Amino acid sequence: MTAPMRLSPIRIACAACVLAAGLFTVVAGVAGTVHAQPVERAPLRAPDIHYEPTPHNVVTEILDLAKIGARDVVYDLGCGDGRIVIAAVKQRGARGVCVDIDPQRIRESKVNAARAGVAERIVFLNQDLFETDLAGATVITLFLSRDVNRKLRPKLTRELEPGTRVISYVHDMGAWAPTASRTVQGAYGPRNLNLWIIAPRK
Ligand SMILES: C[S@@+](CC[C@H](N)C(=O)[O-])C[C@H]1O[C@@H](n2cnc3c(N)ncnc32)[C@H](O)[C@@H]1O
Repeated sequence: MTAPMRLSPIRIACAACVLAAGLFTVVAGVAGTVHAQPVERAPLRAPDIHYEPTPHNVVTEILDLAKIGARDVVYDLGCGDGRIVIAAVKQRGARGVCVDIDPQRIRESKVNAARAGVAERIVFLNQDLFETDLAGATVITLFLSRDVNRKLRPKLTRELEPGTRVISYVHDMGAWAPTASRTVQGAYGPRNLNLWIIAPRK
């Protein structure tokens, strides 16, 4: 006769972990777009601004105001769940770069891009946006803060080619007057969408 199997406390704990992870995956899958996954690593440093997604209606306005097309390379600096870059690639045939300091956001972006069938046209960088090499960008999208935008100005001037479009949801760039602006319906009411075009070098 076979002896009954005895489970040690460690085995029971491991089994519980596996079950919990499996349950989470199922819930995330059923929910559609992934917004949360277990955190395996912390952000590289404290983010300059917390995560808040741009509403999908505003994403469409961004694509329009920046006139994003198939020749563009769109960088979202602080990309969140990747929705802006994914929309630019899927709807306009662009290529894109998703940058976020928080590895959880990068994981979400990868899952969402794979689900949209565009992951191979996007580069994902778990990086501080102030360290990102911007050469090659034709469009930069931002949803950060006025202070971070202002701190970014020297880097944008230094690294971006003349004619590159920079678009910021909600926040301005301090003394930089926008080339174009429109009011859009944000999650909590009307908000500004601002566009700048990098000027020729002097
Ligand atoms: C307000 S959310 C915008 C998300 C996305 N761009 C959108 O519009 O849906 C700001 C994002 O910037 C990221 N972030 C904050 N500071 C950062 C930094 N220094 N480098 C890279 N990402 C940063 C946050 O982790 C967060 O995902």
